[in-house]
Amino acid sequence: MKILLTGGLGYIGSHTAVDCIENGHEVVIVDNLSNSKIEVLGSLKQITGKNIKFYKCDLCDFNKFSKILKKEKPDQVIHFAGLKAVGESVQKPLMYYNNNLVSTLNLLKAMELCDCNNLIFSSSATVYGEPKSVPITEDFPLSATNPYGRTKLMIEEILGDYQKANKYFNVVILRYFNPIGAHDSGLIGEDPNGIPNNLMPYITKVAFGKLKQLSVFGSDYNTPDGTGVRDYIHVCDLAHAHVLAINKNTENKGLLIYNVGTGKGYSVLDIVNTFIKNNKVDVPYKIVERRPGDIAECYASSKKASKELGFKAKYNLKDMVTSAYNYEKKHTNL
Ligand SMILES: NC(=O)c1ccc[n+]([C@@H]2O[C@H](COP(=O)([O-])OP(=O)(O)OC[C@H]3O[C@@H](n4cnc5c(N)ncnc54)[C@H](O)[C@@H]3O)[C@@H](O)[C@H]2O)c1
Repeated sequence: MKILLTGGLGYIGSHTAVDCIENGHEVVIVDNLSNSKIEVLGSLKQITGKNIKFYKCDLCDFNKFSKILKKEKPDQVIHFAGLKAVGESVQKPLMYYNNNLVSTLNLLKAMELCDCNNLIFSSSATVYGEPKSVPITEDFPLSATNPYGRTKLMIEEILGDYQKANKYFNVVILRYFNPIGAHDSGLIGEDPNGIPNNLMPYITKVAFGKLKQLSVFGSDYNTPDGTGVRDYIHVCDLAHAHVLAINKNTENKGLLIYNVGTGKGYSVLDIVNTFIKNNKVDVPYKIVERRPGDIAECYASSKKASKELGFKAKYNLKDMVTSAYNYEKKHTNL
């Protein structure tokens, strides 16, 4: 099938492009490069041996994007494009609402114009707000604690309304937990602009001396070692969930929602210590105050994705920390 990936040069999109190609799909990427680099395209060619068609385009530009979609006529679209930094979204809410919502509305309008009825959407565990218990199942109450999360929640609602009005429209909403790690080749991985917001790229930058010290926010949570527990998933496992979702969309089931996590929780210190032990490096850290809005534990029930998509995580924590290290090593001039 021909799959168009919005935001396909980003962290999760690039790994998904590889898995799609390895599973026989043709990939077209549209990205405005606001949080990715054009060099990723060359890395994708090196990994897959295929030239991938790429369009530099902002999805907020409806005229330009709808022409691309009309020309390409993809069978399915995977919608990764979006801004994703929680802290930045609190500082610049309008930028987040504009980018994430307008790009999605433009995408749906353009898909309708060219009769493309199959979508996979990148949602997030953030839509569960402050869950009352773990593991989290897909029917837990939804809420948002920041503008970024609210864009995900609003888009889920928009997709629900649109699907009700258009019975030919199929959408799989994937609620990602915490993707980390990188492709085995070390050619693609997580390369955020500026100071990383997420734990793993922060750890790798500290390990290579690009940042001085890691701050661990809170050690008095009600968890085995007092630090926050999250559901970390190898980005290649997450990428594969999209290929399974492509298959699912062909069953014409309307709207489907799945958590994508491993179902296992690891603490911040589990991650830091596994990283130090397996990569034989030092990661200086200090325990600081809790961050407002952070919760003690967040991990998925992955039963629904396992039963209905056939999803099973292949990689363990050691694979995640070593691949993240190898990617940073390849991209650091030592
Ligand atoms: N990484 C995570 O921890 C995580 C967790 C849950 C959900 N998500 C969601 O998954 C998606 C992909 O995340 P990622 O980690 O790969 O992020 P990323 O920033 O690496 O990739 C997003 C890509 O979208 C592009 N983009 C942004 N706005 C665009 C626009 N208006 N038009 C065209 N391109 C645009 C960026 O240039 C970037 O290449 C995002 O929607 C994100 O919110 C990510």
